[in-house]
Amino acid sequence: MTMIANTIYEGDNKDILPNFPDKSVDLIYADPPFFSNRHYELIWNDGAEIRAFEDRWKGGIYNYVEWMKERIQQCKRILKDDGTMFLHCDASANAHLRILMDEIFNGNFLNEIIWCYETGGRATKFYPQKHDTIFWYSKTKDYNFYYDQVALPRDTSTMHESIYVDEKGKKYQRNIKNGKEYRYYLDKGTLPNDWWTDIQAINPSAKERLGYPTQKPVALLKRIINTASKQGDLVLDPFCGCGTTLVASHELKRNWVGIDVSPTACKLMRDRLRKSYSISVEIMRGKEDIAYLKKLPPFEFQNWVVAGYFLGRVSDRKSSDMGIDGYTSIQDGVNPIQVKQSEDVGRNVVDNFETAIRRAKKKKGYIVAFSFGRGAYEEAARVKNQEGLDIELKTVKELLDERR
Ligand SMILES: C[S@@+](CC[C@H](N)C(=O)[O-])C[C@H]1O[C@@H](n2cnc3c(N)ncnc32)[C@H](O)[C@@H]1O
Repeated sequence: MTMIANTIYEGDNKDILPNFPDKSVDLIYADPPFFSNRHYELIWNDGAEIRAFEDRWKGGIYNYVEWMKERIQQCKRILKDDGTMFLHCDASANAHLRILMDEIFNGNFLNEIIWCYETGGRATKFYPQKHDTIFWYSKTKDYNFYYDQVALPRDTSTMHESIYVDEKGKKYQRNIKNGKEYRYYLDKGTLPNDWWTDIQAINPSAKERLGYPTQKPVALLKRIINTASKQGDLVLDPFCGCGTTLVASHELKRNWVGIDVSPTACKLMRDRLRKSYSISVEIMRGKEDIAYLKKLPPFEFQNWVVAGYFLGRVSDRKSSDMGIDGYTSIQDGVNPIQVKQSEDVGRNVVDNFETAIRRAKKKKGYIVAFSFGRGAYEEAARVKNQEGLDIELKTVKELLDERR
């Protein structure tokens, strides 16, 4: 697998990053699952789809640091010599990640940015935790920084210094240190400090809000991308969630590459890019095999089968309870699909599905599982001969082989 710009890679970044070439990316932004072991599940917008996010890591802080280490090492390898990496974290692991970044980036530390925001919920037994930490490191001492892209207009109203005009008529303020004059031209603007209070977290009524936990605001990503890349550069996000980095990169005319282990997230960001900018984006899948599919959370597996293989639509919860997990595409006649993330599926599953198909007034349907017992095949044959209903039993291996 090579790296193709403007592509989403679905899979564990640990497996995908090693395939990317050395020194090929200008800027990396990484927003990994925080060290908090939370589990999120939510119903997407109209309740039609279940979207989920899970912090992948389980175990103690040192395991988490090891888990991050191999990924950050790969990131550094992929960065160009003048490239930089931003690592977004919170108080649960920032101390450990700072030491890790110092080690991997040979001390080329640039900033610890404190992003302050106001969100709902306020602690009462300690100070409300309302900031994240974003570490910024460069690969070498000679790195890209685009002052003019991130400088803010100089606010002269709060300054005590007088305003001077130079020989060319340009206005400046000055500071004299050890007899030397330092000029600050007003049209050059000024850099924001390393604590950012002017970018709000996504509030519940924000237009860009997709309902995806941990979604970051596009404005935050735009500042980061403008800090260290120019038009045409390549930006990589190895934990790209619902694709905020990809959206911000696209809007700023950068090329991008996104990786996420969650098939739901990948589909979501592909749709986000398609709907917002009418661009079609390819999802490349990394190391997709039986072991990987067995480990997927049930709703992710369901998405993989229904949307990924059949290009169909996942059922809302209610029909799912009635034995239909999704429907095939219009081209296939919108036929029911049942998904079993198990081995040796038996006769009773086929029987129940037969009832569900009849209820849906369909003549054909699919059951997908890792394997089927003899009784299931016999029952599907009987239903076809005697009832005229076509229930196709498909193993995951068959799906993988057909896709290949
Ligand atoms: C904090 S969220 C990123 C949110 C993102 N910045 C946004 O604005 O939407 C972390 C993401 O990392 C993904 N993830 C977790 N483990 C991963 C892994 N091993 N490889 C790739 N992605 C992973 C999760 O699925 C999740 O979408």
